[in-house]
Formats: sequence, structure tokens, C-alpha cells
Amino acid sequence: MPETTPDSSAQHPASAQQAVPLIELDDASQVFHVKGKDLPAVSDVSLSVGPGEVLCLVGESGSGKTTTARLAAGLASPTSGTVRYEGKDLAEMTRAERREYRRAVQYIHQDPYASLNPIRSVHSTLAIPLKRHGLARTTAEVDERVDELLTTVDLTPPGSYSAKFPHQMSGGQRQRVAVARGLTLSPRLLIADESTSMLDVSIRVSLLNMLTKLRTEDGVGFIYITHDLALAKYFAWEGRTAVMYLGKIVEVGPTQQVINNPQHPYTKALLEAVPEPDPELAAQKKSGGGLVSAEIPSLSDLPSGCTFHPRCPLAQDRCRENVPVLEPVPGGAVQDVACMVVTNPRPDASAGSAASGAAGSAAGSAAGPAAGSATGGGGAP
Ligand SMILES: Nc1ncnc2c1ncn2[C@@H]1O[C@H](COP(=O)(O)OP(=O)(O)OP(=O)(O)O)[C@@H](O)[C@H]1O
Ligand code: SF4
Ligand SMILES: [Mg+2]
Repeated sequence: MPETTPDSSAQHPASAQQAVPLIELDDASQVFHVKGKDLPAVSDVSLSVGPGEVLCLVGESGSGKTTTARLAAGLASPTSGTVRYEGKDLAEMTRAERREYRRAVQYIHQDPYASLNPIRSVHSTLAIPLKRHGLARTTAEVDERVDELLTTVDLTPPGSYSAKFPHQMSGGQRQRVAVARGLTLSPRLLIADESTSMLDVSIRVSLLNMLTKLRTEDGVGFIYITHDLALAKYFAWEGRTAVMYLGKIVEVGPTQQVINNPQHPYTKALLEAVPEPDPELAAQKKSGGGLVSAEIPSLSDLPSGCTFHPRCPLAQDRCRENVPVLEPVPGGAVQDVACMVVTNPRPDASAGSAASGAAGSAAGSAAGPAAGSATGGGGAP
């Protein structure tokens, strides 16, 4: 079976509807070479985000979220595939086009410790891009805009923070400076990489509400990256969510569908792992998300066929041999999913045989509804 991920074009409701998206990744891959081995950190990822849209990338650590974001932000060039801003291939941009792209697409780094210059005050961190791009010319204009930005990210009164250096602030305060810097150039697309992870809940909610306002009122597009599906639900409820596993998108669709009606066994496991405050509901959750194994395979030695098969409670023999393709789910669900058991269900005597022992019972309990919904809705071929 060919290994492809279809373009997020307007052919499917899980995809962006804009004629020319702000950002588009088309079969983009990034292979790192470490100690003589290839690490395919991102493989054939296609996605697009238009003005006012939000796409949330979720997945475990090492699934390729940041690498994908860095490709979209032009911080790395894809090993293969294409990245386009407003339809223009980044690799073919003129200097002027690149400059506009650099202004319009801002990446907020997941690690503010690493991204803020330790010898630059908060004021100078925010003032430099404003001056460089001619967005504030006089000292008074610069000061006013810096104060506005600090207020926007709840660093108030701004005068208390302007003169500080990164080492004089907490992790959460640094993270807010990083967000403020992302806003300095009035971007059209913001790539927020775990940008609220160090904030306490009230600050996080206020920052997310501020970012939502940028999206709904100013039409800013977002790629929002998080481990936390509860945050995806909060920030991208009206947008789309793409679930990544070992460098590939395994499920993508409207967030409401992906969360309320997940189709891929990995998405289901991630949702099972979300902490549940109600003790009765928590007791119903499967331990380990219902996965056969908690161990994430190494990128340098990927399992054959579907790379999720050693952990998958639904794995069949064919999963070890064939690479699943990201394709629409048959029946009512509107998302795309890379799981042959969901998209191409057929009787398989070996269902669950890749799992063993307790895993086998997990397969038994999980296989019914998943296979049932795909078969019942779309009709097995
Ligand atoms: N510069 C690099 N050189 C070699 N390997 C890298 C490099 N950057 C990332 N990787 C590897 O690529 C894989 C994907 O990394 P990435 O940072 O994109 O994952 P992530 O989903 O953002 O993880 P996290 O949730 O921990 O931030 C990981 O195995 C990582 O170790
Ligand atoms: S059922 Fe097979 S194809 Fe689907 S996720 Fe599991 S191992 Fe992969
Ligand atoms: Mg990351």
C-alpha cells in the first residue's frame, strides 16, 4: 500500500476551506542524520491553515510537533516536500517576499529559556523588531507599543517588567514575554508551541482568550501545539486538530469530531489518558490509555507496516505489513484517519494477535465499537 498523506485541500470537511491558505505543508518531511542513522522526525505531513483558522497539533513527546512547526515557520527547510506561504513556495521566494513572510508568520518557542536573549531586557526584546520593521519610529511610539504588548500578556504594570532581564523573571513571566514578542509584528499566522504550558490556570485562560480574540476579530491564523487535549478542546474547539504519531498525522478533522468521536486507536488512547476529576469516571478509564505498551519505538528503528502496531490494541496481522494511508473515515465521521482497520474493515481471524496476554483482552474490548462504527456507517468493502 503506498505511503501517502492526502493534501488538506477543500475536498474534505476535515480540511481548511480557504482557496489560498496562509500556510501549507505539502508532503513535507524532515529527516535528521544522527550518528550515521536517519531519523525521520516528520514524514509526508500535509496541512494548511487559513486566516482566522486554528489547527491544533497534538501527540506525545517526540511525535514531531515542533519539527513540523519549525518547517511551517521557515526555521528549517524540509528534506522533501513543499512549504508555501500564501501559495508561494518558501524555497522560491524573493528577498522581499521572504521578509514579508518572516514578519507575517511568528513562531513562539516552546522553551522561553532558550528563545529569549539573556543579555537583552524585556524592553529591548520587544523594541528591536518594532524598530527593525518600522512599526514604531520615535522613542515615545516604541515605549507606548512595548507597554501595550506587556499589558496584553498580563505583565502589568508594564513599567515593572520593561527593564527586567530573563533571569530576573519566573518561567511563566518569560513565557508571556515570548508571546508578546510573537505579537510585536502584528502577525497573520502565529505558531504557538506549548506556549502556555508554564502558566498557572488563570493566566493561561486569559492568554488563550486574548489569542482567540486575535483569531476571531483580526483573522490571525494559528497553529497551536500542545500535549494537552483539554487545551486543544479549549482553544481549537471551532478549528481542526491533527494527531501526530512518530512523525505522521494519524488523524485530522474538526476538533469537535476528533475529541467527541475519535477514530484512530492512538487518539482514543490519548483521550483515555486525559486526567478525569470525577473519581467515578476516572475509575472507568483504561490504564495506560488501553495501549498494549507504553514504549514509544525509536525513530531510527521504526516498526514495519503501521508504526503504531506494537502498541495498538486493535492490531491485526496486516498491520505489520501495510502502511496505512490517511483517508476519510467511511460513514458519518468527517475526519481523516490512518488506520486500515477503521477505513478498510474486513474480517481478520488474527484480530488482536499482535497483542498478547492482557493486551489481547484490551483488543477484545476496544475492537468492537471501533470496527462497528466504521463498518456500520460505511459498509465494509
Ligand atoms: N535537531 C535535531 N537533531 C536530531 N534529532 C532531532 C532534532 N530535532 C528533533 N529531533 C528528534 O525528532 C523527533 C521529533 O522531535 P520534536 O521536537 O519535533 O517532537 P515534539 O513532538 O515537539 O516533542 P515534545 O512534545 O517533547 O516537544 C524526536 O525524536 C527528536 O529527538
Ligand atoms: S489497527 Fe492496525 S492500522 Fe490501525 S492503528 Fe492499529 S496497528 Fe495501525
Ligand atoms: Mg515540541
